[in-house]
Amino acid sequence: MFKKSGQYINKIRNKLRTLTVSRNFNAWGSGLISRGFQSNGMSQIECGKDVTFNEFAWISFDGSKGRLVVEDNVYIGRFCTMSISTLILIRKSALISDRVYIGDCNHGYQNTSLPISSQPVTSAGSVEIGEGCWIGIGVAILPGVKIGKNAVIGANSVVTRSIPDYAIAAGNPAKVIRNIAVD
Ligand SMILES: CC(C)(COP(=O)(O)OP(=O)(O)OC[C@H]1O[C@@H](n2cnc3c(N)ncnc32)[C@H](O)[C@@H]1OP(=O)(O)O)[C@@H](O)C(=O)NCCC(=O)NCCS
Repeated sequence: MFKKSGQYINKIRNKLRTLTVSRNFNAWGSGLISRGFQSNGMSQIECGKDVTFNEFAWISFDGSKGRLVVEDNVYIGRFCTMSISTLILIRKSALISDRVYIGDCNHGYQNTSLPISSQPVTSAGSVEIGEGCWIGIGVAILPGVKIGKNAVIGANSVVTRSIPDYAIAAGNPAKVIRNIAVD
């Protein structure tokens, strides 16, 4: 009885949170925004239908021009962090595990008379996460990378170069270890 009422309260909380957060987005189809969601650019986020942000997702924008576009049926795991100055596009039905980092920008570091924290953030190419792909736990996806359709990225990989459709890639830096046979 208590368990059931707890579940009911959680459901209501999730619904309320999803409603109050998503109304600040540029577009929202449907889905779930779990507790701990944070972003400094709510109006720069566009999501389709059946999108899930699991707990403590953190979407950080450098400036007002960057955009996060999330297509239908995408799952974004716990503690995912994104740093955006231009565009991160997540294609439909992508599955992003917990603790994944995706970023399209870097700190400038060329000026040796300034600490790096005082140098401007530089855009280094937008990132695209392919339709139906699976990004393993703890992966880092760096600027300019495109992950292919139904590709798999192994746990804790650091992806510095684009990965083709239907490839399994792993390691630091991530390399293709196998291709998935296409029907
Ligand atoms: C990438 C993955 C799917 C590959 O699984 P698989 O097809 O069964 O591949 P294998 O285990 O046969 O591994 C193939 C080779 O890649 C290596 N490899 C596999 N995963 C790796 C990883 N994450 N990092 C580095 N190397 C990896 C293996 O050591 C093996 O190398 P070898 O041929 O020299 O022995 C799996 O290893 C993985 O990382 N899954 C992610 C799990 C996860 O993040 N779950 C989160 C919950 S959704």
